[in-house]
Amino acid sequence: MQKQVLKNYKGLSGVIKIPADKSVSHRAIMFSSLAKGKSLIRNFSKGQDPNSTLKIFQQLGVNISFKASDIVEVDSSGSLNPSSLPLCCDNSGTTMRLISGILAGQKFNSVLTGDESLSKRPMKRIIEPLKAMGANIESDANHAPLKIYGSDLSGIKYSLPIASAQVKSCLLLAGLNADGITTVSEPYLSRNHTELMLKYMGADIEVDGLSVSVKKSFLDAKEITVCGDISSAAYFIVAALIVPGSDIILKNVGLNPTRCGIIEVVEAMGGDIKILEKKEVSGELVGDIRIRYSALKGCRISGDIIPRLIDELPVIAVLATQADGETVVSDAGDLRNKESDRIVTTVSELKKLGANIDEKDDGFVISGKSTLCGGCEVESYNDHRLAMSLYVAGLISQKGISINGFEWAGISFPEFDELFSSLLN
Ligand code: S3P
Repeated sequence: MQKQVLKNYKGLSGVIKIPADKSVSHRAIMFSSLAKGKSLIRNFSKGQDPNSTLKIFQQLGVNISFKASDIVEVDSSGSLNPSSLPLCCDNSGTTMRLISGILAGQKFNSVLTGDESLSKRPMKRIIEPLKAMGANIESDANHAPLKIYGSDLSGIKYSLPIASAQVKSCLLLAGLNADGITTVSEPYLSRNHTELMLKYMGADIEVDGLSVSVKKSFLDAKEITVCGDISSAAYFIVAALIVPGSDIILKNVGLNPTRCGIIEVVEAMGGDIKILEKKEVSGELVGDIRIRYSALKGCRISGDIIPRLIDELPVIAVLATQADGETVVSDAGDLRNKESDRIVTTVSELKKLGANIDEKDDGFVISGKSTLCGGCEVESYNDHRLAMSLYVAGLISQKGISINGFEWAGISFPEFDELFSSLLN
């Protein structure tokens, strides 16, 4: 699908509720499927990725049904059944990596497949440590499809070479079903939704700084309300900051500190962003934020903040084109392993619009403030976050843009277009 985006002259205004968090929705389905009894998940994501996870657990014999369009009941015996067919993770790296940790310690064998993009993404990062726990996994040179032969697992101590919530969560989930203690440490703290939700559901889990340890545990069926996704809120935050005249309020935004890097960056750039209210929902912080159009200055983004904003970097690049001076993003080489090589794709598409942006091995450098001319076609490269970031750039492009493959936004955020239309005057 080709999407036309035209320059917006009047700014964004109004109040919207941010839809459900993708990462939390995945975990809610997975962990409820492991818990014996009935769990209720409120505000479940309508994105395609969490729905890929849901279908896989149905295939593994868990009774999962929709009670309303965003309310899911998970009725589980607490154990999974084998599937005679491959389990298709579609485009979702979180699905493949986390489920591998669950399936490695089962009494049955499974095959995990993915779409073209997921089949190109590296799986060595989970295969190696899972094998050290006793897992038996065959792959296509460390890529999907993954054949997982259920095995008895033992706990290990493992230090992640790069911070990754997907790898950390995979190993913790394997650890729930392993003998002994499984301890995972990371160089910087990545999103900790797994730790929070496992604790909330009664697992034997302990966090000590950058290390997490888990022991064999049974989970309690619970009611889980999924918070709004700050990664989805990011597109509105950036749009309001760069389209003159904007003033918006985003409600129900997940404010887990391990996800709030974008707020820290906006503050460092001098953007007008205010947290109006905070409360705790199912173990996660949630709040409302107000954002107004602002004069911005460039900043440096590197080191421990990277995992707190990894998915927001393409739209932060758009933001940086409107900031005076240089914005340097480094230590973000793992962007090359996302749904597209987000260093290459962000740089090439923003260059087409007229941005002053250069590729680095582990990030990019942007010099602003620049006028984005537009008047051209850009590509999503089948990457939801690129499609949505380019939409935001289109709002300030002089001649408008056409985005090819915009439908990929539905991977995480099918409500994107409708919510933007409701704020644009
Ligand atoms: C996710 C973790 C991040 C992120 C992805 C979702 C998760 O990946 O990019 O969109 O839900 O755990 P990494 O942990 O590989 O950085």
